[in-house]
Amino acid sequence: MSISKRLETIADLVTPGYRASDIGTDHGYVPIYLLRNHICDHVIAADLSKGSLEKASHNITRAGLSECIECRLSDGLSEICPGEVDSIIISGMGGILMDRILRNGLEVVKAAKELILSPHRNPELIEAFAEEFGFAVVYDEVILDKKKYYHIYKITINE
Ligand SMILES: C[S@@+](CC[C@H](N)C(=O)[O-])C[C@H]1O[C@@H](n2cnc3c(N)ncnc32)[C@H](O)[C@@H]1O
Repeated sequence: MSISKRLETIADLVTPGYRASDIGTDHGYVPIYLLRNHICDHVIAADLSKGSLEKASHNITRAGLSECIECRLSDGLSEICPGEVDSIIISGMGGILMDRILRNGLEVVKAAKELILSPHRNPELIEAFAEEFGFAVVYDEVILDKKKYYHIYKITINE
């Protein structure tokens, strides 16, 4: 399985050894990449949609990684406990939804160490969110993948 330049860039920003969660995982490609490339030992693949989670679960089982990737039905960060994950990945949705997920899950965000975020629209909301809470934007790039531009941020918490 090869993943897109966008998803590879996102996954490579995760700090090795961190416990990660991919929120809105859909196909589960990021968690699979994180395990296959020995970046993480355990990842939570979360999604609001049962259909998406079934897709992720199917791909994870085919990759032989069911032991290390937990599929969890979750609206944003609602089913993640504070302190359960170090790295929160959210990509492939708009900045408005992403901002809402982060604010609704603020306890989980504050207990984590980093956010890897790639909003499809309204990236300024992510920058404003980081500034409001005093989180440091340590990576801020726009990449070109298959003729489309994508904003990608890495934000560190509590450093
Ligand atoms: C376009 S896909 C992006 C998949 C992958 N993250 C990527 O970047 O390619 C968006 C996914 O986010 C999920 N989603 C939408 N709202 C969500 C929410 N509130 N909580 C969790 N997942 C959500 C959808 O079900 C869908 O699977």
